[in-house]
Amino acid sequence: MSDWQPAWNRLWPAPAKLNLFLHVVGRRADGYHLLQTVFRFIDLADTLRFEPRRDGRIVLATPTPGVPPEQDLVVRAANALKVDTGGTAGVTIHLEKHIPMGGGLGGGSSDAATTLIALNHLWGCGLSRERLQALGLPLGADVPIFIHGRNAFAEGIGEQFTDVNIDDTCYLLTLPAAAVPTPEIFRSPDLKRDTPAIAPAVWHDSFGRNDLEPVACTLYPEVARHLDWLRQFGDARMTGSGACCFVPLVDRARAASVEALLPADMKGRVVNGMPEHPLSDKRLSARASALTARPLS
Ligand code: C5P
Repeated sequence: MSDWQPAWNRLWPAPAKLNLFLHVVGRRADGYHLLQTVFRFIDLADTLRFEPRRDGRIVLATPTPGVPPEQDLVVRAANALKVDTGGTAGVTIHLEKHIPMGGGLGGGSSDAATTLIALNHLWGCGLSRERLQALGLPLGADVPIFIHGRNAFAEGIGEQFTDVNIDDTCYLLTLPAAAVPTPEIFRSPDLKRDTPAIAPAVWHDSFGRNDLEPVACTLYPEVARHLDWLRQFGDARMTGSGACCFVPLVDRARAASVEALLPADMKGRVVNGMPEHPLSDKRLSARASALTARPLS
């Protein structure tokens, strides 16, 4: 635990993800959809900072407008860990948002995952990543991938993983002016729910499509407009349940030139794919030794 004391004062990143494809292959009895997808981490990230408290409370210092603090995913994540481990410690959480909400980029889930990873260390809980994933899943189907920490082909409701290696790619990511509520897309009678499942090894870079796209495009024509524009430059797709859309652009110079062509009424930027989550088990262990070697003066 003492090795980790300095880490209270650092910024903990919570990166966004893209779904490189997303197929709906069935539905569970409880209404949740069975998916196949590839999660790819990108270098757009929220940041979190954790301060210890003596009064045992979990306080979000930066509440999101319109979200009651007790319903915020980071507060629920901290509570879930505290209850599971029978802890009495308190924490003040500072969250700086950079990932747009309602974008299909997994921002809220990533914040919750980083909270679980960080507090597991800071409180000295010692839970395994698998246990943290189980604690995270009830908070959102996208939470476990951020705890898993490696780009992966995912199945089930998005919590069973087969790691994949993805080429070093950048993407032009655009943000249509629409916040898409995930449940609205999944409950549409028009959603295709019977795409045949594949074996993970069949997946390759340009495989498949996003089955949620047609529903999102009908309900939110801005999404369709962005996809139409991006398709001039390659195999453009929506991520998650939208609204964000992306096109892979392997060459960075080309990505910059395409970004410069963005119409004035479209928001977007180039983002880079990451080989793994910045707080993956492997990276965090390396950072732990670095922190041990270089204590805060
Ligand atoms: O898990 P998350 O909070 O992201 O999901 C929001 C809603 O989207 C769920 O309550 C459910 O209605 C729907 N959903 C689904 N199948 C999934 C993931 C989400 O039906 N695999």
